[in-house]
Amino acid sequence: MTSEQDKFYEREFKRGLKQERQRKGVEALKVRDGVFDKATLMVLYDLIKAGHLATVEGIVSTGKEANIFWGTTPSGETVAIKIYRIAAATFRNMWQYLIQDPRFKSIKKHHRHVVFGWAKREYKNLMRIEDDVPVPHPLEVRSNVLVMEFLGRDGVPYPRLKEQGSDDPEGDLEALITYMKKMYEAGIVHGDLSEYNVLVSDDGLIVIDLSQGTVVENTLAREFLERDIENVLRYFSKYMKVPSKEDVYDRITGGKDGE
Ligand SMILES: Nc1ncnc2c1ncn2[C@@H]1O[C@H](COP(=O)(O)OP(=O)(O)O)[C@@H](O)[C@H]1O
Ligand SMILES: [Mg+2]
Repeated sequence: MTSEQDKFYEREFKRGLKQERQRKGVEALKVRDGVFDKATLMVLYDLIKAGHLATVEGIVSTGKEANIFWGTTPSGETVAIKIYRIAAATFRNMWQYLIQDPRFKSIKKHHRHVVFGWAKREYKNLMRIEDDVPVPHPLEVRSNVLVMEFLGRDGVPYPRLKEQGSDDPEGDLEALITYMKKMYEAGIVHGDLSEYNVLVSDDGLIVIDLSQGTVVENTLAREFLERDIENVLRYFSKYMKVPSKEDVYDRITGGKDGE
């Protein structure tokens, strides 16, 4: 990229920021200033130029590794834009989690590469399981930015299972066990499954946040799956008598030990 272009983008960004500040007040921008470092901005502009995005609207969530915005595409669809922070505080953890995954074992221990790896891994995992499990449809990943289908209405995501609770614990537990089984059959373990990463839509539960998802060949896959099962069983145990962890593990893996 030439420095002319660079300057152009910077000018555009500043102008956008100013309008944004006037429109939405300082609060939203405190976050935005932290997320939209110059490199991230370029990625967003690239996504706009390539026709994957039209606008970046409000912030939906601020997390440890990533912030999520909602935006629109040129055809008017609403999308979720997950922006992994380049300057994530948990970099060391992120690196260690990533290199355990055989798909990413040779990634360089450079901040940027690791953060890009997380975005890419989430995208790959979503691609791999989306035909079998309800997850947001992934649209594009570039550097530290993942664009996916927005799950919710008017920029408001569906509630998480954590807040919404379950109207049908038996059915919901069964659904999540089935989802874990289908993911496993597709070669993926979620690795961070809990009531925090499940959204409740009118059409049932949807699994999100696959950035920690790893392949079953990962030597830690078994541990991750056991933890996912424990989280899910713990959650539903406040509603009902739940099956044993071992039984659920066998159902998901077909009695195989996963290694
Ligand atoms: N595709 C999506 N559509 C709508 N909201 C989403 C989407 N993905 C994430 N969110 C919202 O952002 C929150 C955090 O997303 P998540 O992927 O779990 O990131 P984190 O790593 O911060 O936990 C979710 O609880 C949900 O409210
Ligand atoms: Mg999450």
